[in-house]
Amino acid sequence: MGPRSVEILAAENRELRKLLTSLGALVELTAADAAQLSHAARPQERKKQMAITASKTVGELAVELPGAARIFEKLGIDYCCGGAKSLQDACTEARLTIDDVIRSLEQSESARPAATPECDWTTAPLNQLTAHIVAKHHTYVRQEVLRIQALLTKVVAAHGQNHPEVAKIQQAFEDLASELAAHMFKEENVLFPYLDSMQAAVDRGQPVPPPFFGTVRNPVQMMMMEHDGAGEKLKQMRQLSSGYSAPADGCASYASLYRGLGEFEQDLHQHIHLENNILFPRAVEMEKRN
Ligand SMILES: [Fe+2]
Ligand SMILES: [Fe+2]
Repeated sequence: MGPRSVEILAAENRELRKLLTSLGALVELTAADAAQLSHAARPQERKKQMAITASKTVGELAVELPGAARIFEKLGIDYCCGGAKSLQDACTEARLTIDDVIRSLEQSESARPAATPECDWTTAPLNQLTAHIVAKHHTYVRQEVLRIQALLTKVVAAHGQNHPEVAKIQQAFEDLASELAAHMFKEENVLFPYLDSMQAAVDRGQPVPPPFFGTVRNPVQMMMMEHDGAGEKLKQMRQLSSGYSAPADGCASYASLYRGLGEFEQDLHQHIHLENNILFPRAVEMEKRN
């Protein structure tokens, strides 16, 4: 082969490489575009399929509509422990007009940006959901309990005489904190590891391992009963504090305590919602199918 042929071959090689590179980029671009397009299309599809009816349960609506939990929270509708109630019953209980609530839910849905990046916990692997609950909500509870306990000690010492309700709130919070500590211990050491092992077995195409507690429904039922107990404590504290509105003679710590308790309540609602309305029903269904 002469030097001229070598030159031609090298030039052809360069051209070929360029072509392959551009083809690769094209393939990548097409895959990325497709992913983006399908991601962008999903919320639209969901919006189209979504029917907000009075007979749907508030738990279902909180799962299906990303903005529903915030609206329920604002209106005082219990969507976590009371998630099995129909929207109609929940509205009657909260003395709200069903049409107004449906309108608010529809407005929040249509105001939501089409491609909000969010993790869909109704389809994500169970071990990802349990890890998310522990990292986000269990960690938050442990940190906030310490901070709120310190604030309660301070506020009871400074205002307990004029505001005897704050000592009752302290007692209710202490009960709630110790119940939650035991509850999260059980989830982290018994139930969640079992749910993770169920997911691992399903991923390997194997049947779910037999649990020592008979069926997953047993610990799930127990956890849901404990959630009800926590929900009651939250309601009690909300009542005692008149909806967490600090009194006019309260100091900055008083205001900070009530703000903290309000946020604690909101986080616990979201936490229980993820378990009661998504994680547990999915685990029961997975056990049934495998
Ligand atoms: Fe939990
Ligand atoms: Fe829980």
